Amino acid sequence: MPSALPTEWFDRLHRWPDVEADNLQASDATDRLLLAEAAEQIAASAPGEVLVIGDTHGALTLGARMLGASDVRVWTDALVAEHAIQANAKRLELTDGWRTIALDPDEFAGARIVLMQLPRSLDQLQLLVDLIAAHPADGIQVYSGGRVKHMSLHMNDVLRSRFAQVHASLAHQKSRLLLAREPLGFASSHEDAARVPASEAQIDPGDGIAPISVCAVPGAFAGASLDIGTRALLPFLSQAAHETVQEATQEATRESAAPVAVDLGCGTGIIATVLARADSRLRVIATDQLSSAVASAALTAAANGLTDRIEVRRDVLLHEMADDCVDLVACNPPFHVGAAVHTGAALEMFAEAARVLRPGGRLLTVFNSHLHYAPELQRIVGPTRQLDRNRKFTVTESLVV
Ligand SMILES: C[S@@+](CC[C@H](N)C(=O)[O-])C[C@H]1O[C@@H](n2cnc3c(N)ncnc32)[C@H](O)[C@@H]1O
Repeated sequence: MPSALPTEWFDRLHRWPDVEADNLQASDATDRLLLAEAAEQIAASAPGEVLVIGDTHGALTLGARMLGASDVRVWTDALVAEHAIQANAKRLELTDGWRTIALDPDEFAGARIVLMQLPRSLDQLQLLVDLIAAHPADGIQVYSGGRVKHMSLHMNDVLRSRFAQVHASLAHQKSRLLLAREPLGFASSHEDAARVPASEAQIDPGDGIAPISVCAVPGAFAGASLDIGTRALLPFLSQAAHETVQEATQEATRESAAPVAVDLGCGTGIIATVLARADSRLRVIATDQLSSAVASAALTAAANGLTDRIEVRRDVLLHEMADDCVDLVACNPPFHVGAAVHTGAALEMFAEAARVLRPGGRLLTVFNSHLHYAPELQRIVGPTRQLDRNRKFTVTESLVV
């Protein structure tokens, strides 16, 4: 299939501020396929008719602008994607004619051409398809796509739940499109559509840790369950919290009385919950770049009666946080960047933890034992000791000196 835009145009997109590496690109074959397939319709579109979902670095949003679309709406779960689109728009002088939107039925209403990178989570796909189909423009066409290895027939079923016509394209450079049209009069009240569905489950981590009510909005890591890596970290949080509070109270020169603990990459907020329960004198901040994660963490805090104790923030890493202001960081870092297995995301988190921690502060983290992060932690953060290690996971504590 001929590309709608020259290869050189895609080459001008950068990943920054997302993780950068030689083997990671700012666009993929799915972006090119989506734009090629929809190019004619995009060129003929009226302002506001193009809706982009899941753009990672701007290929779809800015590509649609290049092809003639205006007032393009963009929804991405990841804040780093929003920032990367903005950065590329500035570089390519395409800062106007598009805007990011919230996960809101009014914001999704009236779309006629939808360009969507398929999310990995079927629940999140269903949520998005429901919003798209709730108030569509006449003649709506949904162009969705992904890498073949990450697609399943269940995705067709989700699209078929709201559209009469769904068909798959031939694969091209290991990507494939699912095209959907003719929305099925989907009767949902405005209130229903406005409510993002969350699942809730009671988890019992064991090791003397009290059960936790976990809430998950579609898209959040591990859903309403306890990841086994997180489970390995939880037994060490209580003592770290107590030691942190004790050290802070002994420090006569502290400006702020309350020691601060951060759950970095909080997902549904399980780590933050255990930290907040461990010691009521600890101020806990749960932060993640995904809107689905921060929505989940806020619900989890509320479900456990900890709304007043846990502050939830959406941030890329800890970019909005000053240096040297945190006493304890706890983190189960990702080992993926997008779909690629990559250490870059974890190393970035360690560096951010080192930056925000005060001298004497500590980072508790967990990782797959085969990853051998301990020397990196030693180099990036400071003296690192192993708290636990089994065949699967290693838990460490690093001190900032
Ligand atoms: C392995 S999950 C752990 C989630 C949660 N802490 C738990 O234990 O269940 C890693 C989390 O880091 C978040 N994350 C990844 N990269 C990030 C970044 N650059 N800035 C902020 N959060 C990030 C992901 O969205 C995800 O929620």
